[in-house]
Amino acid sequence: MINGTLVRLRALRSDDLEHHLAWRNDPEVVHWASGGDPLFGPITREGVEIDFERMLKLVPHREAALTVEAVADGRPIGFVDYRDIDYYVTRATLGITIGDRSCWGQGHGTEALTLLVGHLFSTMNLRRLELDTWAGNERAQRTFRRIGFTEEGRRRADALVAGEWHDRVLFGMLREEWAAKR
Ligand SMILES: CC(C)(COP(=O)(O)OP(=O)(O)OC[C@H]1O[C@@H](n2cnc3c(N)ncnc32)[C@H](O)[C@@H]1OP(=O)(O)O)[C@@H](O)C(=O)NCCC(=O)NCCS
Repeated sequence: MINGTLVRLRALRSDDLEHHLAWRNDPEVVHWASGGDPLFGPITREGVEIDFERMLKLVPHREAALTVEAVADGRPIGFVDYRDIDYYVTRATLGITIGDRSCWGQGHGTEALTLLVGHLFSTMNLRRLELDTWAGNERAQRTFRRIGFTEEGRRRADALVAGEWHDRVLFGMLREEWAAKR
């Protein structure tokens, strides 16, 4: 358990499936999380079950999905993940989805991602963390900057959102930048 004030991160459990099914079938969550990528949603129960079969077996040294719970009532409100660890460059890629829309804009996402970054830099020998979003997702970009990520570049026309092309904005944070903020 990784504890914060508003949220805590805990290991994914099989009973989280119902929440993932709801979040990934919420058009607004799908729009912001993935720019409407049908791989994210809408998705069938069988599709989420296949994802869960894989996610529940992940080895945390390599990758993991963690459930974000609201401290106030213990309710799952989203998930964070890390993956694609490169052990030579010592880099990992992160992701975040606060799937419960009633929690947006109240600091939960900022704290969940801050907890994940702190956990990874303090427990694993990683030098850099990276994540990205599509250019229209202003809230995600503000969240990443607020935590200390720097915009490092853009992949042009890399997200197709409602029939329009958008850039993908790439963010990174180095271990020393995280340490300097503490
Ligand atoms: C993006 C996300 C993680 C942010 O978490 P959150 O709890 O909603 O956001 P917070 O309350 O922590 O606020 C973070 C920043 O966003 C800003 N923000 C909040 N609502 C906003 C809005 N509607 N538009 C633009 N910025 C907004 C806040 O002001 C804050 O920035 P600041 O610190 O510079 O003032 C969350 O909204 C989410 O998961 N959304 C759906 C999926 C998604 O977008 N995932 C990320 C894409 S990879």
